[in-house]
Amino acid sequence: MQIEKTKIDEIIMKYGKRKEHLLAMLLDCQEEFYHLPKEALKEISEKTGTPFVKVLSAATFFRAFSLKPVGKYPIHVCMGTACHVKGAPRLLEAFERELGIKLGETTKDSLFSINTVNCLGCCGLAPVVTVGKDVHGKLKQVNVPQILKKYRPKEA
Ligand code: FES
Repeated sequence: MQIEKTKIDEIIMKYGKRKEHLLAMLLDCQEEFYHLPKEALKEISEKTGTPFVKVLSAATFFRAFSLKPVGKYPIHVCMGTACHVKGAPRLLEAFERELGIKLGETTKDSLFSINTVNCLGCCGLAPVVTVGKDVHGKLKQVNVPQILKKYRPKEA
């Protein structure tokens, strides 16, 4: 993915180069680039006068951030106990098969990435998967293509 330096600068300027807005800048970068590119961390460090190690530790501490590119719609398959017993491993396989990627990978079109989580806190809906900000509960393998279709660009 090509990183636009002007986009990084815009984000930093939006927060007036102020170090107290470090997390907001990181969140905006994550949303813009679907991960936190090293260039962005360096720019934020330089322009806000925050030591690089501090920027990096914020970037690695919070689960919302990723240093590796993730898809526009990150998929999280819950592997907590309730979801596991209701078929989460088979759901994970279905997402992997449908997208042609493995756990931890991102599709070539940068739309989807797949990861697992331990419990999403809505065990009553098990098995649960999040796609982007959406929660999908009581899923079966057969639902997977239909769900992915919702997020794919409409064909002309
Ligand atoms: S175990 Fe999956 S939501 Fe709790």
